[in-house]
Amino acid sequence: MEVELFNLHGKKALVTGGNTGIGLGMALGLAQAGAVVAITGRDQEKNSAACARLCAVQPGCLQAVFDLEELAGIEPFYRSVSQELGGVDILLNNAGMQCRGRAEEIDVRDLNRIIAVNLTAPYVLSQCFAREHIANGTPGVIVFTASLMSEAARKGTSAYTLTKGGIRQLVRALAVDWAEFGIRVNGIGPGYIQTEMTRPLVQDSEFDAWVKKRTPLGRWGKPDDFAGAAVFLASDAARFITGQILYVDGGWLATF
Ligand SMILES: NC(=O)c1ccc[n+]([C@@H]2O[C@H](COP(=O)([O-])OP(=O)(O)OC[C@H]3O[C@@H](n4cnc5c(N)ncnc54)[C@H](OP(=O)(O)O)[C@@H]3O)[C@@H](O)[C@H]2O)c1
Repeated sequence: MEVELFNLHGKKALVTGGNTGIGLGMALGLAQAGAVVAITGRDQEKNSAACARLCAVQPGCLQAVFDLEELAGIEPFYRSVSQELGGVDILLNNAGMQCRGRAEEIDVRDLNRIIAVNLTAPYVLSQCFAREHIANGTPGVIVFTASLMSEAARKGTSAYTLTKGGIRQLVRALAVDWAEFGIRVNGIGPGYIQTEMTRPLVQDSEFDAWVKKRTPLGRWGKPDDFAGAAVFLASDAARFITGQILYVDGGWLATF
């Protein structure tokens, strides 16, 4: 097999939520494969620390502070990052938030907020990316971060499950719309991964034991488990793959 297929030298990537957790795991993978990566998040300190790690792997990586809830600012934000990077070949729509609580108790403002961050913002960012590539006649790759909640539901996560189910269908819809322009659209679906987002679950000993028992590979996932999947989908190795979700879940969805 040609290892060269996975080479991302000369490619530029934008990773939302790339300053920590799964996003940083994927960003580091892309940088190790040769891509220059821009990461974004709201927290300047987290951005700077992550950017330093990325630059140690691939000089020229950069960071930009941006809050994806500011939907009207997404287009100018995308344009400025694209200009600074010299174009964006790979867009990883990874940033996301959780909203826990029983469905009858969810405040509609919290519902609108999670829809904005997890669904509307990546949709709008993808539009910006696609418009640029369609205008320039250049191919591109988009990867969304989906979830087990794209396929199944768990008590107390209705708002989150709504957004991640939407991501699964969005991946298919955009893949179909943009295939003719050479834009591939796929998703990565994490299982239970140890990050800031799942800290309350990891600290709950009963839940922690359930995850380890329920996951065939017997452990929580780690951010660096995502480097390989991100590089694969972003690279020419996946050149005939579009509209798919690749689950990186230790086998969770394979059993019940
Ligand atoms: N951990 C899991 O088990 C798991 C499972 C399935 C799917 N996922 C998905 O994986 C993705 C990454 O989650 P994670 O577990 O790595 O969580 P995390 O460590 O909490 O990271 C979340 C990232 O999103 C960014 N972010 C959140 N809200 C934002 C906003 N309004 N504007 C811009 N950036 C924002 C955060 O940066 P700032 O705080 O600096 O803004 C951070 O970089 C999410 O889409 C999540 O739904 C996680």
